[in-house]
Amino acid sequence: MELTAVVTGAARGIGRCVVDRLTAQGYRVVAADRSPVEAGDGIVPMTVDVSEPGAAEAVVGRAVDEFGRLDLLVNNAGRFLRRPVLETTDDDFDALFAVNVRPVFRFCRAALPHLAQTRGSIVNTASISGLVGIANQSVYAMTKGAVVQLTRQLAIEWAASGVRVNAVAPGAVDTGFMDEARAADPDPARSLATTLSNHPIGRMSTPDEVARAIVFLAAPESAGLTGTILSVDGGYVAR
Ligand SMILES: NC(=O)c1ccc[n+]([C@@H]2O[C@H](COP(=O)([O-])OP(=O)(O)OC[C@H]3O[C@@H](n4cnc5c(N)ncnc54)[C@H](O)[C@@H]3O)[C@@H](O)[C@H]2O)c1
Repeated sequence: MELTAVVTGAARGIGRCVVDRLTAQGYRVVAADRSPVEAGDGIVPMTVDVSEPGAAEAVVGRAVDEFGRLDLLVNNAGRFLRRPVLETTDDDFDALFAVNVRPVFRFCRAALPHLAQTRGSIVNTASISGLVGIANQSVYAMTKGAVVQLTRQLAIEWAASGVRVNAVAPGAVDTGFMDEARAADPDPARSLATTLSNHPIGRMSTPDEVARAIVFLAAPESAGLTGTILSVDGGYVAR
């Protein structure tokens, strides 16, 4: 039996590492991203903006049409915004919720009936910003807080159907996401030093470290976990 997954934000960073780990385990993966996803064995690339209406149904539908089943949904696509609250506009607010929150809801809604048939699971990529306060991230933190709470809600709503719903909450991860955030900072060197000093292990996580936690949350080894928000943050929230 070959397991089937949908991964969003699959072109690079954490999402790409998840795709590589899943295919190495024999999963077939529909890998969705607004940027082209590099093809490979077991990968069905889909270039799609997850915020578009109908995207969730199209991506989930592709997995079910092509492989006849869905075992795992990884909601990982996301954007960052570091901006003081007084400089944050309504458009910033709408744009971030449109990518970080509504698609997560839509993909879960589209996938859950199929996951109930396989007793599959959902893993969402949240953030430490959804768990603790961090200056100048008001809207980003709200979006990730929403992902945390949707994870808990769906874990309870679908437990009796055998679907597990969990999330990872990464701290700083060494991906293009952080590079771009630093480049937008007036003092990138100071920004990096602050980031490192806030993480007790003294470094950022690697994208593969986060991917390993995501794959664990999808695996039988974590069968007893649902509604769990697993921090992968080098000790950030333990401080
Ligand atoms: N890097 C970090 O420090 C960090 C920390 C905490 C949480 N996260 C979360 O991890 C997830 C992955 O981030 P990453 O670090 O791998 O970033 P990344 O920028 O390397 O990768 C994100 C991917 O999502 C895709 N994407 C963005 N908007 C999209 C859209 N509308 N439709 C389709 N695809 C879209 C991008 O094209 C990109 O390939 C995000 O949800 C992010 O919020 C990252």
